[in-house]
Amino acid sequence: MPVTTTEGLHVAIIMDGNGRWAVARGLPRIAGHKRGADVVHDIVAGAPAAGVSALTIFAFSTENWRRPKKEVDYILHLFVKTVEVWMPELVAQHVRVRIIGDRMGLSARVQGAISAIESRTAQECGLHLNVALNYGGRAEILFAAQSFAADCVAGRTQSAALDEQAFQRYLWLGDEKAPDIVVRTGAEQRISNFLLWELAYAELFFVDTLWPDFTVATLSGIVDEYRTRRRRFGGL
Ligand code: IPE
Ligand code: IPE
Ligand code: MG
Repeated sequence: MPVTTTEGLHVAIIMDGNGRWAVARGLPRIAGHKRGADVVHDIVAGAPAAGVSALTIFAFSTENWRRPKKEVDYILHLFVKTVEVWMPELVAQHVRVRIIGDRMGLSARVQGAISAIESRTAQECGLHLNVALNYGGRAEILFAAQSFAADCVAGRTQSAALDEQAFQRYLWLGDEKAPDIVVRTGAEQRISNFLLWELAYAELFFVDTLWPDFTVATLSGIVDEYRTRRRRFGGL
């Protein structure tokens, strides 16, 4: 029987610094993205042993379309290729993969890869891996508000029925518990439109390590420090 890891931590990661990692080595920026994808592979494999049961990773933002087309195309191509190559291994590891973001704004090829990995892993009961792709926190909240309004108009619900829990179910992350930890690598200290609703009470970790240099040991160190923090949620 696979180990069910639903009791662990939810860690959200803003995987930043791929470009700088590559440029520092005289490589094209896309080499940093390639290496970054390999790191995702290692972190997914090591997360359950580090006490993590859900991992939500920022792969491509709604703002990243502002980059040169060549880089955007490469990142999306890398997503499709990575899904293809890792699918059997993810299934063997019992990882349940979901993609959060505005999928309608992605090509048919990327949407096909999303459907394939989600349906292939939907019944898995190990690590929850949520990949934020064409994701923006404001877009997510807007989409939820529109979906709720549509349900009201159709008579499926009414405004008085909306509380925080009900609203959360309209978000792309749905019923996943809120992240306990958010890590941003790459020495920047900002949220960059990631999980604006869900991070309300997350513990923040900003690390200088560039994403391609991130390891399971770095993750374990963060989890250890998290365990020393006291979360008050507004109480005493
Ligand atoms: C993060 O690395 C990956 C994406 C945003 C897709 P960057 O590409 O932002 O790397 P830096 O910040 O330029 O070093
Ligand atoms: C955030 O990184 C988005 C992802 C990691 C996918 P960026 O590199 O795009 O963020 P900014 O532009 O420095 O805020
Ligand atoms: Mg960056």
